[in-house]
Amino acid sequence: MSPLAFFRIKRLNQVHRTLLNADPVKTLIKEVAIASGFRQLGQLSRDYQKMFGELPSETLRSHKNHAKSFPARKIIAPQPNVANEMASEVLDGLLQKPKRIAPKYFYDQRGSALFDTITKLDEYYIPRIEQHIFSLFKRDICEEIGTARTIIEPGAGSCEKIKWLLPDISPAAYVPMDISESHLRENAAKLGLAYPGLIVDPRVCDHTNDTMLDIKLPGSSPVFFYPGSSIGNFEPEAVIDFMRKLRVMMGSGGGLLIGVDTKKNSEVLHTAYNDPKGVTAAFNINVLHHLNHLLGGNLKPDYFEHVAFYNENCGRIEMHLRCVKSHIAHIAGMDLEFSVGELINTEYSYKYHPQEFSALAQRAGLRMKRLWQDKQRYFSVMYFLPALLTV
Ligand code: TRP
Repeated sequence: MSPLAFFRIKRLNQVHRTLLNADPVKTLIKEVAIASGFRQLGQLSRDYQKMFGELPSETLRSHKNHAKSFPARKIIAPQPNVANEMASEVLDGLLQKPKRIAPKYFYDQRGSALFDTITKLDEYYIPRIEQHIFSLFKRDICEEIGTARTIIEPGAGSCEKIKWLLPDISPAAYVPMDISESHLRENAAKLGLAYPGLIVDPRVCDHTNDTMLDIKLPGSSPVFFYPGSSIGNFEPEAVIDFMRKLRVMMGSGGGLLIGVDTKKNSEVLHTAYNDPKGVTAAFNINVLHHLNHLLGGNLKPDYFEHVAFYNENCGRIEMHLRCVKSHIAHIAGMDLEFSVGELINTEYSYKYHPQEFSALAQRAGLRMKRLWQDKQRYFSVMYFLPALLTV
């Protein structure tokens, strides 16, 4: 067994032991295994057994079932022009110094599953506290939005969070948007089943570029719903740009309900993006598998490690992949050099005091109407309305 395989399996064993005690994430071992470069369960269990004795049969069984419930990944082949666009965008990022990969490439099927697991980790406080704020102030929030509105959720993913406001706001229509078509259709359909009478009108779209503006909406004066501090993943200038688009689409009668993570103790922030189970690490590294798969390439996930830290000056968490072994790899028909210690930036997650964020929104033509926070002020939920023109 190569030293690399040895370390992979050792790491896997650590993760595995922790996970066995954590019921909801039992199947994760398979995800981590794949993210660590194992293609076949058989090989994995043979190597594992060589080092640690038997792999608990229950876990193995659950892998097999899990594998069965996710048969060969369905690949919706992108249209040629879309594929070229992606290839050129990815190359553009990888040819920059330092190299970058856009965070939207995290989310293939495995990436989405790993991300769902992150949202259930104790250390990753955002979903828990955001949900807490929604449950504390549900009445108030629903009253602010009103009923019979068209609700649009860019990057809706699992379509879970809108349930925090249902059925109270009984919208005219709920329009979830996401780039991952299969994920979106499946979850939109599930939501429709759970709430008979709710009109769910999913749209496949990348809300991080201009294509969002081309979407024909089913109603006027929509209310945008953008939870989870996804806004933190934009650069501040891009926040203004994005919110301006929302402002244009909402006309003079719409609104924006948004979740924004706050600046806080850097220890808390650091732990949230460096969970000891290594799920965030697996999620980060998975982006390389996804790019290989999407664009044809041999980027080497094993030659990178997860790095995340809070950059206090910039008020952001930075996520990177650090190269641990100099090498050359290719992607989308291009050879690229990676040197040891080099960082590829995969994501920023900006944190804002409410007043900082509302100042940005103001530059997009929005004014803060309401602010809801938890006691510790770990998270903000804000409601914005179109600003009136004052000369
Ligand atoms: N936008 C959220 C955040 O920045 C969720 C998120 C995006 C995230 N990418 C992530 C969380 C990577 C953990 C790791 O926190």
